[in-house]
Amino acid sequence: MKTAYSKTDLYIKNISFTWPSGTIALSSCSLSIPGPGLWMIVGSNGSGKSTLFKIISGLLKPQSGSIKCEIKPALMFQNPDHQILLPSCGSDLMLNLPKHLSDQEYQELINIALAEVELTGMASRPIHTLSGGQKQRLALAGALASKSQLLLLDEPTALLDLESQNSVLAIVKKLCHRTKDPLIALWITHRLEELDHSDGATRMENGKIGKWVAGKQLRESLEPLAVRRG
Ligand SMILES: Nc1ncnc2c1ncn2[C@@H]1O[C@H](COP(=O)(O)OP(=O)(O)OP(=O)(O)O)[C@@H](O)[C@H]1O
Ligand SMILES: [Mg+2]
Repeated sequence: MKTAYSKTDLYIKNISFTWPSGTIALSSCSLSIPGPGLWMIVGSNGSGKSTLFKIISGLLKPQSGSIKCEIKPALMFQNPDHQILLPSCGSDLMLNLPKHLSDQEYQELINIALAEVELTGMASRPIHTLSGGQKQRLALAGALASKSQLLLLDEPTALLDLESQNSVLAIVKKLCHRTKDPLIALWITHRLEELDHSDGATRMENGKIGKWVAGKQLRESLEPLAVRRG
């Protein structure tokens, strides 16, 4: 597994993507990520954010431009029920682990991943007994167990209450700033207050990404617009 991130590991230059319906989702879009950290993207509905994530994760191919992604991505969505498949925390995490490990090795890796998202001791907990925030943290543990180093988080807190929102945000932030193998997280949000927790933030408009600026600065520039919209 690669350890140190270099800017050339993720390279997106002038990509364009038009859906078969003729809708232009991305238009000469470029993105470079400065390094490990929590990077946030805001943008109005339909500005192309989710389409960009599908391209980075390889689910879609751009029609023009160049993309290279040498780091293993994991996609996380608003609704964790869309990605948690098996009935208990431990069995679900096993799906992300290599085949042919011993039972003891599985237990160890599952316990490590659960501890990293503050779900220690919950391997046998049935999924349906978890709160929304705990499910979202379990989805995060799946990404960690699969050794992804690039988290693509598509409005991960949109369905969560304030407490769960804060806990998911704090855990992702911690993973992005840990000394050993810090992660890169690209986090899409419509919640402007989250921007203050980022290492940098950008606005997506009409299929294009803007420049990275300080999260607080972007929040302050967007808040008047949000208030006007009501
Ligand atoms: N499967 C699809 N087929 C056709 N058009 C699509 C499809 N998915 C998205 N689009 C269109 O592509 C454009 C960009 O959509 P996308 O989902 O990337 O926006 P978004 O920024 O994620 O919006 P939101 O904030 O609402 O999630 C929109 O005009 C959308 O209607
Ligand atoms: Mg979207």
